[in-house]
Amino acid sequence: MNANTVNEILQGLSAPEKYISSKFFYDDAGSAIFQQIMEMPEYYLTNAEQEILAQQAGDIITETGFKGPFNVVELGAGDGSKTFELLNYLDKQNREVTYVPIDISKAAVDGLAADFAQRLPNLTLNPKVGDYFEVLNGRLKSEANPSLLLFLGSNIGNYIPGDALDLLRLFHKNMRDGDALLLGADLQKNPEVIRRAYDDPHGITRNFNLNLLDRFNRELDANFVKEQFDFYCHYNPLSGEVRSYLISLSDQIVDLADQQISFKKDELIWTELSKKYSFPELEGMAVTAGFEVQRHFLDSRSYFTNSLWIK
Ligand code: AVJ
Repeated sequence: MNANTVNEILQGLSAPEKYISSKFFYDDAGSAIFQQIMEMPEYYLTNAEQEILAQQAGDIITETGFKGPFNVVELGAGDGSKTFELLNYLDKQNREVTYVPIDISKAAVDGLAADFAQRLPNLTLNPKVGDYFEVLNGRLKSEANPSLLLFLGSNIGNYIPGDALDLLRLFHKNMRDGDALLLGADLQKNPEVIRRAYDDPHGITRNFNLNLLDRFNRELDANFVKEQFDFYCHYNPLSGEVRSYLISLSDQIVDLADQQISFKKDELIWTELSKKYSFPELEGMAVTAGFEVQRHFLDSRSYFTNSLWIK
């Protein structure tokens, strides 16, 4: 990890209320654990979104209003399994589409491109590796055709409200008039359903969080003892927030990148926000960021929305 990243982590672990950014979950081991999370029956988000994209692709594309060729630009594409449903539909309709998957992981983008090139031979692929802020910067404005921007998987839920709005404003600034954003957001629902998706009975989400300590031991020359930490998370149905934490099980001192970090027994490290939205909140954000809400596409249980916004 570079010096800025190390400083960022040290800053979080030295704060009065300790925190680690959830972006650090996704090293190779963490990405593999996240795959396991997506396969748990309790983690309903992935299936719900897949169902929407598989069953309502036609309506989604109709509502964009795009008549001719267009781009599908996906931010944080990952393995793209849900997007396949949308692109497969467009292929069957003989629509002329350029797919631009953007991800920070070169392995993910390469794998996705190879997979889609084989399964959708008519699709024009233009994959980009990098920080999606940098890759996005200026690119849609210079496109000849309109773009459908995809930000799926409830990734927006990891951002505190102010940051979420900043990100949506940034998307808006980069889009052309008439471009569309399809935003995947998890909805507020029976709190027990939400709690189980994160406080899972298999302990997989616990592993996902504890993997941060393994990663820091490896990459930051730290000496966390995993047995001295536990995982805790809770859902607050009033705020719509799932918050995840690591808890120190004893008074202890941990070495990390030439510094010493002390933990009190029962002290928390906040690791993740997974925000669940109401429709008024989503619509408020859309309008504040400058968009018009075209339509919400829901799964059959109304657990999840793919919301189509137009600039
Ligand atoms: C990939 C950010 C959408 O917050 O639900 C899954 C990550 N964390 N279980 C989420 C996650 C714990 C996930 N996102």
